[in-house]
Amino acid sequence: MRNKRNATIALVLGIITCLVGGWLLLRGATSLETFPLNTLNPQGTKADVIYDLVVPVFAVAGLVFIAVEVGVLWMVYRFRRNDEDVEGVGEPVQLHGNTGLEIGWTIVPAVILAVIAVFNANAILQMDDVSGDVIDVTVIGQQWWWEFRYDTDNDGAVDIITATQLVMPAGRDVRVQIQSRDVIHSFWIPALNGKKDAVPGRTHPLVLEAAEPGIYQGQCTEFCGLSHGVMRMQVKVLPQAEYDQWVDVMTTPPEQPTDEAAKAGQDLFVQQCTACHQVNGLEPGAEAPYGYAKLPNPNYGEDVGSTLLSQNAPNLTHLMMRDTFAGSLLDLYEDNSDAVDTTVGSAEVVPTGEPAVNNIKRWLRNPEDIKPMNPDNNQGMPNLGLSEQQIDELVAYLVTLK
Ligand code: CUA
Repeated sequence: MRNKRNATIALVLGIITCLVGGWLLLRGATSLETFPLNTLNPQGTKADVIYDLVVPVFAVAGLVFIAVEVGVLWMVYRFRRNDEDVEGVGEPVQLHGNTGLEIGWTIVPAVILAVIAVFNANAILQMDDVSGDVIDVTVIGQQWWWEFRYDTDNDGAVDIITATQLVMPAGRDVRVQIQSRDVIHSFWIPALNGKKDAVPGRTHPLVLEAAEPGIYQGQCTEFCGLSHGVMRMQVKVLPQAEYDQWVDVMTTPPEQPTDEAAKAGQDLFVQQCTACHQVNGLEPGAEAPYGYAKLPNPNYGEDVGSTLLSQNAPNLTHLMMRDTFAGSLLDLYEDNSDAVDTTVGSAEVVPTGEPAVNNIKRWLRNPEDIKPMNPDNNQGMPNLGLSEQQIDELVAYLVTLK
């Protein structure tokens, strides 16, 4: 009696596991809002290629899974001990050395994998394919944020450096050249393509294309130290005309601050921040405070004008053109939580709303409170010990950077 009950329990547990697993998969596939890092919700041609490969392969794997599980459950039931036959049905017939079966279960999986390999190779080729007027963007991972460099006039020199949010036009292929400045990171915008590692000394290309404007979330997916888990990024997709407008803004120097607090903030920025952060055109302060020196940058830098060059911290020239900062951990605008929570939605050239002054203040008071970092080892931003008045002045300046 007990053996029969055990077999029944095993059967029921097996079925429940399949149902729960299936429900979780379907649940995950249905909502980008709830699950913004969802590979099963492609939003562009490259992600479509992956999706169109995953679905049939998953279906074949699912059939194999069901066949194996049904076989296992059937055997659990068929060869159980029961009350009528306390000895069970005896040892099953042994099939070791059955040539037909050995050949069969070698050939069938080999054929299945060979067929999948053909489609797989085809998908890889399609994903490298670019067409039309391609935009090249250099992506540089570092502890713990992402930098994006554009050469928008194709003259070989970088003219836009931004961070955290990669901006691109809808319906065009963007070839990102992925590099790293320190350790191995991995660049991943699941709605637009698969993952690709950022490896020091190497350049790995990846093509992104998005059908619709919107903000698509990403996350570093290679363990890279303290703040790996919050090393986020976004791709902001704009209609072509608005992308052109974005390029215009980004290649124009921001206006000089006019009010007194902002001017004082700019002076403070030059003294305290320019050893690491760049605002294009500002000459860095004479001395690098806090023992910081701009890190040598052997791979890139020569092709970038020194007034554009940001080294170990984000270029802040047009800070307020982004929706988020601090590795996309904090919103830059009030009432703009959409920028973080929604993957497919409206994206504006210049984010609207009031600047999230309190977020910037929190960050300046003590960055390590928000994001685990190791500034003593040049990894991340130190606590500068700023007074509340200095923080107010810096914020007054930073919010002018549009
Ligand atoms: Cu960068 Cu993990």
